[in-house]
Amino acid sequence: MRGVILAGGTGTRLRPLTNIVNKHLLPVGNYPMIHYAIEKMASLGIEHILLVIGKQSAGLYTEYVGSGQQWGVNISYKIQEQAGGIAEALALAEDFVSPGEKMLVILGDNLFLDDLTDAVNEFERIANGAHVFLKQVPDPKRYGVPVLNKGRIAIIEEKPEQPQSDYCVTGIYMYDSKVFEIIRTIEPSVRGELEITDVNNVYAATGQLTYSILSGWWLDAGTHASLQQAAVLLTGRDQE
Ligand code: G1P
Repeated sequence: MRGVILAGGTGTRLRPLTNIVNKHLLPVGNYPMIHYAIEKMASLGIEHILLVIGKQSAGLYTEYVGSGQQWGVNISYKIQEQAGGIAEALALAEDFVSPGEKMLVILGDNLFLDDLTDAVNEFERIANGAHVFLKQVPDPKRYGVPVLNKGRIAIIEEKPEQPQSDYCVTGIYMYDSKVFEIIRTIEPSVRGELEITDVNNVYAATGQLTYSILSGWWLDAGTHASLQQAAVLLTGRDQE
């Protein structure tokens, strides 16, 4: 299993902090945000991790993350020139993942408690497809929201006005290597981005999208309020 951490994007909801530094390098608890996704992947035994970053603060990433030695992993880097969406960022991983290999993808601003070991092992066993992690949230409108039908995801709606469930699709995904072919078939959305939700819906339409539900806390630390919440949760952890 390869690891891909997506840490590009402009972080507009965290201005003015993100005027000077990329969102994923902002402090959360005792570490910069990016630390936690790398730590999660290392704890799952993932040895090779690709970090997709933007041009902003690129030098600071190498300063903090370096080769990945401090976590016992190998880090490679790719630069996403513009904020063209999560699926566009993921496309940059194509030559990092061999055909037939699978990948765990984490959005760098997604912070969470759960141990993903069982889901990762299960996904390794199945032949192909994709897997998403859901979390029950009070404000699903802000996210991708699954329409659930008889234990399956029928479709995911991106930031729907009228959510069909109170779950959100978190920024934690697993894919087979067919994902790169699928990304080539999707078109930019109204916000001008290649949406990961459109990619996931291709898998859903062919019955190849499985899911699990996170039981511990989960946050998208992309706003001032959630960044502060994350800091409280993770500072507690780091002082234990
Ligand atoms: C993205 C995805 C969305 C998902 C969210 C999780 O939203 O498009 O489906 O629920 O990440 O953090 P964005 O942060 O790009 O608005």
